[in-house]
Amino acid sequence: MTRILAIESSCDETACAIVDSDMNVISSVVTSQIDVHARFGGVIPEVASRMHVEQISVIVNEAIKQSGLTMDDIDAIAYTIGPGLIGSLHIGGIAAKTLAYFYNKPLIGVHHLKGHIFINELVRPFVYPVLALVVSGGHSELVIMNNDHDFKIIGTTMDDAVGESYDKVARVIGLEYPGGPKIDKLSKEGNRSYKLPIPKVDGYNFSFSGLKNATITLVNKMKERGEEINTADLACSFQEAALEELMKKTLAAIKEYDVKTVLAAGGVACNSRLRELLAENVDETKLILPPLKLCTDNAVMIACAAHHYYQNNQFVGFDASSSPSMSIEE
Ligand code: KG4
Ligand code: ZN
Repeated sequence: MTRILAIESSCDETACAIVDSDMNVISSVVTSQIDVHARFGGVIPEVASRMHVEQISVIVNEAIKQSGLTMDDIDAIAYTIGPGLIGSLHIGGIAAKTLAYFYNKPLIGVHHLKGHIFINELVRPFVYPVLALVVSGGHSELVIMNNDHDFKIIGTTMDDAVGESYDKVARVIGLEYPGGPKIDKLSKEGNRSYKLPIPKVDGYNFSFSGLKNATITLVNKMKERGEEINTADLACSFQEAALEELMKKTLAAIKEYDVKTVLAAGGVACNSRLRELLAENVDETKLILPPLKLCTDNAVMIACAAHHYYQNNQFVGFDASSSPSMSIEE
């Protein structure tokens, strides 16, 4: 049995967790900067870095304290090496390297999206090939995995990520950052009454900027004309169009690649309507939906992925650089 201490700091959450190789979460601490960024309507990178600096030691100490373990009980230190905001990534990287150096532990640099994917192993182990629908504030990707270290992107967004579109549409109808969860909630009270364009891109790629811009333009026009906007209907119309596109491509990929496991990953995997559509359309023996509380950024997911890196002897040196835009295929 191995135990890994992991640190996540790629965006606006500072987090530390300890997870063992049986996927038991021994401790997990997350602080979110959402309240601060909400004032600006989105994440301000410089503010995020400063807040990580303030929080990181407190969070790591708290995770160790809550675990009841000492550093002697830890086999490796993991951290998010990319993608993410470069300043934010550096803070987690420096903290992880310091711990690894001081306590003489191997160091693991985890790809953030692999973390979002492997959190699903808390539900059950994967049977390969796996299709992962990765949907977050920064990513919309369909990924095929033939084993735990072979990732192939079969589709990605040509422009905005789906979560980013949720956040921008939310802002124009007066909902605070992050808007995704608020649109999800508001949609339940609405109908798909506004006509919005369904994104059209060939193959497994996505595009959300056309839908996002059409929604924002419609709202602005209605505001100019002094027309009343039914925000619940608007939220519902936007969400249904976006999810229709995600579902269409996911279902086609399941068929073509004959996958044995289908999973959702990333912040948008919290979305209740997406979860409902996946549950309705995907064979329940194949489908894994991540625990709601662990869809958005946390360090448990980094530790879960790190166990695979550990088993595959994928370690990094102290000279490893964080990378704001690394691909999951690297
Ligand atoms: O994975 P995450 O915490 O951070 C990134 O790695 O990007 O995802 C955050 C994104 C935000 O865009 C947020 O609005 C979206 O996930 N999100 C949701 C929901 N909960 C979070 N989008 C739609 N419906 C939700 N319930
Ligand atoms: Zn994330």
